[in-house]
Amino acid sequence: MGETSLYPILPTFEKHALVNSMQYQEMYARSLRDPKNFWGGQADKLTWFKRYDEILTGGFKNLDAVWFPGGKLNACYNCLDRHLAAKGNQAALIWEGDSPDESKTITYHALYQEVCQLANALKKLHIKKGDAVAIYMPMIPEAVAAMLACARIGAVHTVVFGGFSSDALLMRMKETKCQVVITANAGMRGGKVIPLKHHVDEALEKETSVHHVIVVKRTEHVVAWQENRDHWYHEMIATESMQCPCDMMDSQDALFVLYTSGSTGKPKGILHTLAGYLVYVAVTYQYVFDYHENDIYWCTADMGWITGHSYTVYGPLCNGATTVIFEGVPHFPTPSRFWEIIDKHQVNVFYTAPTAIRALRREGDTWVTLTQRHSLRLLGSVGEPINPDVWEWYYRVVGDNRCPIVDTWWQTETGGILISPLPGATPLKPGSATRPFFGVVPEVVDDQGNAMPEGQMGKLVIKQPWPGMMQGIYGDRDRFVNDYFKAIPGCYFTGDDAKRDSDGYFWITGRNDDVIKVSGHRIGTGEIESAFIEHPAVSEVGVVAVPHAIKGESIYAFVTLKEHMLPSEKLKKELIQQVRHSIGAIATPDYIQWAEALPKTRSGKIMRRLLRKIANNDAAELGDTSTLADPQVINDLLSHRIAIL
Ligand code: PRX
Repeated sequence: MGETSLYPILPTFEKHALVNSMQYQEMYARSLRDPKNFWGGQADKLTWFKRYDEILTGGFKNLDAVWFPGGKLNACYNCLDRHLAAKGNQAALIWEGDSPDESKTITYHALYQEVCQLANALKKLHIKKGDAVAIYMPMIPEAVAAMLACARIGAVHTVVFGGFSSDALLMRMKETKCQVVITANAGMRGGKVIPLKHHVDEALEKETSVHHVIVVKRTEHVVAWQENRDHWYHEMIATESMQCPCDMMDSQDALFVLYTSGSTGKPKGILHTLAGYLVYVAVTYQYVFDYHENDIYWCTADMGWITGHSYTVYGPLCNGATTVIFEGVPHFPTPSRFWEIIDKHQVNVFYTAPTAIRALRREGDTWVTLTQRHSLRLLGSVGEPINPDVWEWYYRVVGDNRCPIVDTWWQTETGGILISPLPGATPLKPGSATRPFFGVVPEVVDDQGNAMPEGQMGKLVIKQPWPGMMQGIYGDRDRFVNDYFKAIPGCYFTGDDAKRDSDGYFWITGRNDDVIKVSGHRIGTGEIESAFIEHPAVSEVGVVAVPHAIKGESIYAFVTLKEHMLPSEKLKKELIQQVRHSIGAIATPDYIQWAEALPKTRSGKIMRRLLRKIANNDAAELGDTSTLADPQVINDLLSHRIAIL
């Protein structure tokens, strides 16, 4: 696993980084010895309207951990108002449009004014503290304004990735009982138009609690319009005051709900509450990305994912940084686009996903070396394991051997980064997320919760609460307890496999449940199966992941048709369309194998473990098949297996 190649701390970082290796060790030890005082010190970096009474009450034993109870604060105030005096004219956002001709800088002052106007407009639509607002937008500055306007008045935002279908949007809006959705007439990605407003209209044809749609006019495309329900964003805010008082929120008030996939059932609404989340993302942003005043920082993640929430919006803005948002895609108009943007905006810190790095590496070094990238100081990776050879390319070609890579491991549920190098403190090993962040106690265990010996694979758990941890699943306490705290009592169960090496470095290899990562997007196989089943021709289906050179993993489906239904190319297309319609293009299956029958236990349960082996052509590794109701099924499936490209 490349454990031998060690990249020492670069001299400039040893000197100038916020934390060196001695300091890391001292701070980490202190964060475990005395977590309350440690996090109290970190929490002082925020502005509180009223100081908290305690730092932490409760814990994993009774699943009642509450961070900073008694405190009053506001996330928008911490991201905007408090920076106005010193940084009013500094760029808060630099927006780069899909087309290289379009970009815009928005100062802290300008963003503050727009957020106040939008917050006032939301109030006029009767949105008040605790109400949910859906945000279904392209990567444009108004998306950030929408999140912060909600935070300002205590509304709970639920951002839905613009690549999700109208059905997926509908499910999320219904569950959170949204009254308002903020969208755009269209989004632009790689020169293509994404008809966002049209998707909202489709979703709202079904019954929902949504009374108002606020529409940003991103392009000149004409859209259907429903008087009294639909409002142009620019018209609404034009008449509003540029001042709006912040809600004095309690530490444990909800900040947002963000849906993510689990191994079974429909996606779950991960609930993050205010104080713990904000402290954690602010502090991890500062140390992991080694924040220095005037840094230009760019995270390529869409706002619809947790990375966009924590490290495009809340973490950087809480620190008063300048954060770049990019509407487009890495290949448009050419595979140089990322690197051109870095030069154009003089980006110092760049954070992206392995899938993007793999795709750009395939295009050849010249697209990179055509550009300067002198401004870069630090690189980051997130979302899936980064293959050591891809890591080396990123380090050598993109970073010119002078930028450390922070390979950050975390999840929607964790709120912020839990395992990552600190650039001035941690020698790097390609492919390892290295060491835990302050206050984080990971362990690799067996199924009974016993620590695994060094170097051996096991399940990754976290043994103590940290401030960024989710506070629940929206409306489903049982699922929260069962999914995360049942497998190993007293520990947070991550769902990832990992090992720890003799230097205490963590190597995280991927999920140990039925969640897959396609181009870094998290999708539940159960969700895809439900989408297939909606098609009238389908009787049963089993979905598994197979490796993919660029996407990391791709989707392989075994489909059994109902009696008298015949397989055909046309039907295959229909099924793909069905999945795209139910979830979105990110869940498009790459392989569909027609199956006479699926391997099942005698009690009728589909044996996905066997399907995985068949799809991956691991026939020799099938293991014990004695519990199968009909062992012949395996041979049939193997003989019709589709070769993986
Ligand atoms: O399997 C791990 C993988 O992504 C999962 C979490 O996905 P999501 O909630 O969408 O959040 C992604 C962005 C934080 C994890 O369970 N993962 C994330 N980062 C890494 C990773 N796997 C290996 N190395 C990483 N750096």
